Amino acid sequence: MRKRNAAMSFIVLLLSSAGVISIGGVEAADSVSKSTRSCTKMDFGKMPDGTPVELYVLSNGRVTAKVITYGGIVTELHVPDKKGKTEDVVLGFDSLKGYLSGNPYFGAIVGRFANRIAGGKFTLDGKDYKLAVNNGPNSLHGGIKAFDKVVWKAEDASGADGPAVKLTHLSPDGDEGYPGNLSVSVTYTVTNDDALKIDYKATTDKATPLNLTNHSYFNLAGPASGTVLDHELKLATDKYTVADDTLIPTGEIKSARGTPLDFTTSTPIGKHMNGLKADPIGYDHNYVLPGDGKSPKLAATVYEPSSGRVMEVFTTEPGVQFYTGNFLDGTLTGKGGVPYRKHQGFCLETQHYPDSVHHPEFPSTILRPGSTYTQTTIYKFSTR
Ligand code: GLA
Repeated sequence: MRKRNAAMSFIVLLLSSAGVISIGGVEAADSVSKSTRSCTKMDFGKMPDGTPVELYVLSNGRVTAKVITYGGIVTELHVPDKKGKTEDVVLGFDSLKGYLSGNPYFGAIVGRFANRIAGGKFTLDGKDYKLAVNNGPNSLHGGIKAFDKVVWKAEDASGADGPAVKLTHLSPDGDEGYPGNLSVSVTYTVTNDDALKIDYKATTDKATPLNLTNHSYFNLAGPASGTVLDHELKLATDKYTVADDTLIPTGEIKSARGTPLDFTTSTPIGKHMNGLKADPIGYDHNYVLPGDGKSPKLAATVYEPSSGRVMEVFTTEPGVQFYTGNFLDGTLTGKGGVPYRKHQGFCLETQHYPDSVHHPEFPSTILRPGSTYTQTTIYKFSTR
């Protein structure tokens, strides 16, 4: 068994070559792997206005995550398979240029409001607010220049849990139409037990809707392997929010049992997909989770048979948007020159329900001054 309280020594090396700015590492006496935990900061190019973008490489010796300060994007996530061979299991690009040229939120932090707000407007405490309409008649994922498109501040936040980077951002009053100066932090940790843990925190000086998530597209056999239709998914729920044609919830919460939306037992993602009424075909549904906002609870387990990789998702959130990359169409070329086609990645975006601002019966998404928003989601890897 791994000794969690193992004596640790902290090393900091300064390197000036190859764009490496600093390395902070935690070396642990680990009876299983003798792993070396490290947090390495590197350059990842510049924004068109000259703002530098940094890349943080977080590794526990088995799992390695790469995170950039632009959009807080997880650009790479290297995870061992059942034979110990490590592969990058998320979609993304090799360079900043790829991310700046437009993409469907690969790996990004989404906010202020993940998912859709009907009509791009809401009323809060008697005041009307207008948002950008950027998805049919609705506002999607926080607007035009939302959290996925800003450069976050970053600092090494490595600790006993493992190597970590803490990203912070101040979203000013009126940003993308939302009220209040909102101070947000997102900490990514590669934990000692092979998970990518994401801790979100936020405070505001005026009441505002808030719904944060991470939009990583996973392919547990590696994005070059083709679609994710053979991945087997089990969700810790049979319930989902019924939505209209523009993916806005009607308010009804229904059981998925016996329908193509039923993942109460481990089922290949592609098995019942053609029974969906969706164009383009695929899943893009919000499931209702047991999350109570306190401790993270199991939401989903995904198993990829050829590699044996297993990903368990735990979250404090009451919902998860299961999306199967239905809008990928081969026009984006990702890491290593691989074109991303329909269903080549899946997302499990842990969040509050879409359009909660118009549904008082849904768990509230309103953050008020004096309260702190928190959210924790854990993507934990193992093999079978
Ligand atoms: C979310 C939405 C999808 C799609 C993607 C981005 O997952 O639910 O409909 O907009 O983001 O392409």
